[in-house]
Amino acid sequence: MRTSVRLALLALLAAVAINYFEPLPDLLNRLWVRALPILAPANDALHNILHSDSQQQQQQVFSAPADASAKPRRAFRRRLVAVGDLHGDFPNAQKVLTMARVIDDKGAWSGETDVLVQTGDIVDRGPHTLPLYELIEMLRRQALEVGGQVVSTHGNHEWMNAIGDWRYVSQAEIQTFGGVAERQAMLAKGWVGRAWRDNYTVAARVPLHPSLGPVNTDYTPAAPAFSTSLSHAALAVVHGGLAPTYPDLAPFPSRINALGSSLLARLQDRKTQPPPHPPAPYPGLPFGTTPAEERLYGSDGPLWYRGWAHDSEADACAKVDGVLAKLGARRMVMGHTPDFEKIVSRCGAKVIIIDTGISRAYGGALSALEIVYTLTPSGDAWEEREVLHAVYESGPVLLGDDKRVIQGDFEAWANVPPVSSK
Ligand SMILES: *[C@@H]1O[C@H](CO)[C@@H](O)[C@H](O)[C@H]1NC(C)=O
Repeated sequence: MRTSVRLALLALLAAVAINYFEPLPDLLNRLWVRALPILAPANDALHNILHSDSQQQQQQVFSAPADASAKPRRAFRRRLVAVGDLHGDFPNAQKVLTMARVIDDKGAWSGETDVLVQTGDIVDRGPHTLPLYELIEMLRRQALEVGGQVVSTHGNHEWMNAIGDWRYVSQAEIQTFGGVAERQAMLAKGWVGRAWRDNYTVAARVPLHPSLGPVNTDYTPAAPAFSTSLSHAALAVVHGGLAPTYPDLAPFPSRINALGSSLLARLQDRKTQPPPHPPAPYPGLPFGTTPAEERLYGSDGPLWYRGWAHDSEADACAKVDGVLAKLGARRMVMGHTPDFEKIVSRCGAKVIIIDTGISRAYGGALSALEIVYTLTPSGDAWEEREVLHAVYESGPVLLGDDKRVIQGDFEAWANVPPVSSK
């Protein structure tokens, strides 16, 4: 009798321990979590000064239910990778995706990433348009099979091509389609055009935690789902930038994406596609384009805006919290404005610009952004953590390490299976 009680107790302890320490990568991650404050206290202190997160006070408001500590609680982990402008260079895209462990050595979805974000400008400046779009759609399918996801936003160059502005298209690239007419047809009604329509959006809201809903769930501050301390645990992703002056930020991202869908449909549904510019004159946006659609494609619209890259540090950081509050996001991730050396992180990594000129047309750094999000039981609360790295051929560089202790009942979400298979 006593032996069986002991055995049962041992089994229970083992179950708790296994629950707590699995999976192994989480254990390693936890060790790293422990080691980091020792290694980089200065970085943490600096980061805390730079990163006065407005949600921190808000997060203390929601208290855990009384029985939250009754059962062992599991850590949640999600690994996101974001890749910027690829511009027609298939081999370099493959190098970057391999380096960031998005694809394996056979070029297939590795399962080591939960979400791949690509911020557009796949086309132009290089000849590999078709293989690159094929690769992205292949990865999208393979990711879905194992519970992962590929999130794609349009770049201004996808739009230029849809419009008929082919200034950055080479003859060699046109030949990969079979000619001008075939290329026009492919971008309007072929699988590339349909992928732009069905699987790409102008803006994306990418949740870090599943309690925020699927990708592109609108941030609607009044909804109950957003009354938890994780309401802003998301990334706002666009190609160019979300300008403080841009009138259609909210509700994010559906307002922007509705404008994108209607304008793209106008372009793709033109009875005959205009002769490409050059040598033909710039065709402009179609008849019937609304002022809001025109502004979507304007210089302060999400496809072209460069303010977050070009504004002074003081200007950008003074404005960033106001914009993030509207988007329901912790950070904005964008491409479009290259820095050939590095991923640019500003305002305590609230602004991250990931275009490093990956294509050989530029010869910039091969890079990807990695974000590892964890929500780990900590006493009767949770430690929420985002560790951000810029990944280069020479190795990773730490961009941010944000920790918060939050209250709330997030146990239900621990049963959401890990998105990745490994
Ligand atoms: C869009 O993505 C889905 C899911 O991977 C895929 O089944 C579909 O074929 C894609 N659409 C196009 C046009 O590629």
